[in-house]
Amino acid sequence: MTAILNAPEFVLPDLAAIVQEAETVDVGAVLEAETGQHLPWTPSAIALALFRDESLTTKELVARAEARCARREPQLKTFVPLYTTNHCDSECKMCSMRGKNTRLDRQFASRSQILEQLEILRHEEGVRGIGLLTGEYDSAYTRLATAFRVGWIAREALDRGFEDIYVNIGSMTPEEIEVFADWVPDRKDAVTLCVFQESYDRETYRRFMGDTSENVPKANFDRRITSFDRWLDAGFPRTNPGVLMGLHTSVEEELVYLTSHVGHLRDRGSVVDISIPRMRPARTTRNTTRVGDEDYVRLTAVLSHTFPENRLVLTNREPKEIRDQVIGMSGIISPGSPDVAPYARDGSVKNSEGSSQFIVAELARPRDILADVEASGRRIANFGPTIPVRSGEEAAV
Ligand code: SAH
Ligand code: TRP
Ligand code: SF4
Repeated sequence: MTAILNAPEFVLPDLAAIVQEAETVDVGAVLEAETGQHLPWTPSAIALALFRDESLTTKELVARAEARCARREPQLKTFVPLYTTNHCDSECKMCSMRGKNTRLDRQFASRSQILEQLEILRHEEGVRGIGLLTGEYDSAYTRLATAFRVGWIAREALDRGFEDIYVNIGSMTPEEIEVFADWVPDRKDAVTLCVFQESYDRETYRRFMGDTSENVPKANFDRRITSFDRWLDAGFPRTNPGVLMGLHTSVEEELVYLTSHVGHLRDRGSVVDISIPRMRPARTTRNTTRVGDEDYVRLTAVLSHTFPENRLVLTNREPKEIRDQVIGMSGIISPGSPDVAPYARDGSVKNSEGSSQFIVAELARPRDILADVEASGRRIANFGPTIPVRSGEEAAV
C-alpha cells in the first residue's frame, strides 16, 4: 500500500474518446477474463460497454459480478456514520444541511456527546468502523478548526478500538490534511477520505453546488476533485470517491468519469472504496432525477465486475429489498443515520426531519441491520466479537 508521491493529479477523460473506445470492447472477452488479467481497454470503456450491452441481461451481469466478489477477503466490512454537526456554509440544493435552509435546527456535538456516541457504537452496536461527518465551511479558520476537531475524534476512536475511520467533511487542502494528520501520524493506513464528487459533469455540478463566485466552499469543483491527490501525497493510502445518483441525467457519463477516477487512484497505489448513493428525501430547492432500481442494480454490477478488488459501499439509504439484491456485490455495508449524534443506549436511532441531512429508507439500529445481513450467511469483519484477522486481509482477489 505505498502511494506514489507527487504523481500527476486526476484530469477528466475525454468522454467522446471513451465512447468510441467502448465500441471496440469485446464484452465476451471481458466476461471470461480472470480477475486481475490485463485487458487492452480502459476501465471506463469496459464499464460503459458492459452497461450498454443489450444482449447482456442485468441478471446475468449480477451473477458474474457476485462470483468475482465472492473471492474477496474479508467478504464484508462496515462503518457507521456519525454526523458531528449539521452546520454548513455550502448551498447544495439537494441537501437539508445547506446554510440557507432556515428550517433546520442546527446542532453541534460536544466532547462528552461525541465520546458517548463512540462508546455506544463500539459497545452497544458492536462496530469497529466509523464515519465522521460535518458540513463544508468557507473561512480558512473554520476549515482548519474542523480538520483539527475531526482529527481529535479520529484519535479518540482509534484509541477506543475502532479499526476503520472514514472522514467525510468536504474537500481538503494540504494544510487541512496536515492539521488532521498530526492526530494520527501512526495510523494513516486506518483512515479513508470520502469526497464524493456528486457529479463529474461541470454544468450539473454548478447547478446543484453553485458558482465559485458566490463564496460557497463546495462550489469549487477543482479543489474537490483533486483532494484525493493531496491526501495520497500526504501518505494516506485510502480513498472513497462517489457519485450522488440523481443529480446528472446521464448515468453513463457519471459511470465513465467515476471509473476513470477510480482507475487513476488505483494506479497511484490507493485502496479505493466506491460510493454510488441514491438521492433521498430532503428539504431540497431543486428537483432531482430518480435513478430507477434496474439502473441502480446494473450500475452496481458493472462497477463491481470492473473493479472486483474495490469495495462498493452500500448504505441504508436503500431499503432492505434493494439491499438484498446488491449485498453480494458490495464490500462495505454502512447502516446509520444522517442526524447529529443520533445513537442512544436504548437502541433507538434518531432521523428527524428537523435536524437530518436527509431521511433514510430503512431506519433501524445498526446492529440489527448488520445482524440481518449476517443471517444470510455473510460475515462482517469489523462487527461483533473480535476475531483474528488473517494476513493478507486487503489482498486483491
Ligand atoms: N459536507 C460533506 C459531507 C457530505 S455527507 C460534503 O458535502 O462533502 C455525504 C454525502 O451524502 C454527500 O457527499 C452526498 O453524496 C450525500 N447526500 C447529500 N444529500 C443527499 C440526499 N438528499 N440524499 C442522499 N444522499 C445525499
Ligand atoms: N453519506 C455518507 C456516506 O455515504 C455517510 C453515511 C454512511 C450514511 N452510511 C450512511 C448516511 C447511512 C446515512 C445513512 O458515506
Ligand atoms: Fe453542506 Fe455537504 Fe450538504 Fe453540501 S452536501 S450542503 S457541503 S453538508
